[in-house]
Amino acid sequence: MSASSAKKFKNPRAQYNFQGRSSSITGVGSYVPAKILTNADLEKMVETTDEWIIERTGIKERRLAAGDEFTSDLAARAAERAMKMAGVTAAQLDLIIVATITPDMPFPNTACLVQHKIGARRAAAFDIEAACSGFIHALEVGQQFIMSRTYDTVLVIGAEKLSSITDWKDRNTCVLFGDGAGAVVLQNRPNSHGLLTAVMGADGGCADLLFMPGGGSRCPATFDSVGARLHFLRMNGRETYKRAVQAMCTAAEEALRRCELEISQIKCVIPHQANRRIIDAVGKRLGAKPEQMFLNLERYGNTSAASVAIALDEAVAAGKIQRGDLVLLVVFGAGLTWGAAVIEW
Ligand SMILES: CC(C)(COP(=O)(O)OP(=O)(O)OC[C@H]1O[C@@H](n2cnc3c(N)ncnc32)[C@H](O)[C@@H]1OP(=O)(O)O)[C@@H](O)C(=O)NCCC(=O)NCCS
Repeated sequence: MSASSAKKFKNPRAQYNFQGRSSSITGVGSYVPAKILTNADLEKMVETTDEWIIERTGIKERRLAAGDEFTSDLAARAAERAMKMAGVTAAQLDLIIVATITPDMPFPNTACLVQHKIGARRAAAFDIEAACSGFIHALEVGQQFIMSRTYDTVLVIGAEKLSSITDWKDRNTCVLFGDGAGAVVLQNRPNSHGLLTAVMGADGGCADLLFMPGGGSRCPATFDSVGARLHFLRMNGRETYKRAVQAMCTAAEEALRRCELEISQIKCVIPHQANRRIIDAVGKRLGAKPEQMFLNLERYGNTSAASVAIALDEAVAAGKIQRGDLVLLVVFGAGLTWGAAVIEW
């Protein structure tokens, strides 16, 4: 596919005189914790049913990190797998970016903890927070360092231990989320286009649709805040749903337009794995065929910043994406934030 498709799209970044440089994903990896929480398990915790969860969300089970397993641990495991595929050692890494809303601690950043865990002593390290849209934001930031020749090898990770901020007494939210991590290595790959474009957007006016009230400077932890369950995420599901479909479609259409691509030219669409119905609605509006859409949410639920990174790894492992194929990532999350990216694999 690569040779024929290479001439059939526009590289929006080409006009910036990058002299053939690309920011390509040379390795991808993921890690999910061993423990599985099924819908049947949730039936024992809150008033819900397997049928309700499957019908409204498509989720059958999700993974839970162990008590002594933190976001940085999940991230490090995924990173090592991505580095192995890329053939890159820890010493080669110039920069580590972690996208997460569940850092091990408010500070230091989780990327620093990952840097230490994988032994990447040369690498700079920082986090990005754009909730479920974080991975595309991190990818786009990482890309800038490659294209500007500031760095040669950037590790981009989406990792979450959402179980640590999930209210296990709230059936509206606790059925939706899970833990996991996905990672990619970004490098210049000669004669390739790599990350063609990334659309990013935000609407801070809707911050209260999906948020965690406690734990920040507005509401530091007190006995009262903990008692009021303010350190768990809260969501207006129905409103979030509507805006997710709208924003994901708009972002995906803009990304395709920039590259002068039709949806039929995309080999694999990897949407944020939040809800089956959202994914179906987005796929339908984009005109994608069901076989173009990659789904794994029935096994993991919504893993926020890790979601599309894990799905990308599984799509590659399943042989659904080959070198030269065009891939569309599309995400949505708290903020509100959204994004879409087109990648020549
Ligand atoms: C959360 C979501 C699945 C709820 O589905 P919905 O069809 O919108 O359901 P509603 O919110 O209208 O609730 C319908 C009823 O089901 C109930 N309900 C909610 N969660 C339930 C559960 N786990 N089990 C059983 N019933 C549940 C509600 O209480 C409500 O009952 P009521 O009518 O008596 O008040 C859906 O809104 C959604 O997926 N939203 C997007 C969430 C998301 O993806 N967030 C992350 C974005 S990154």
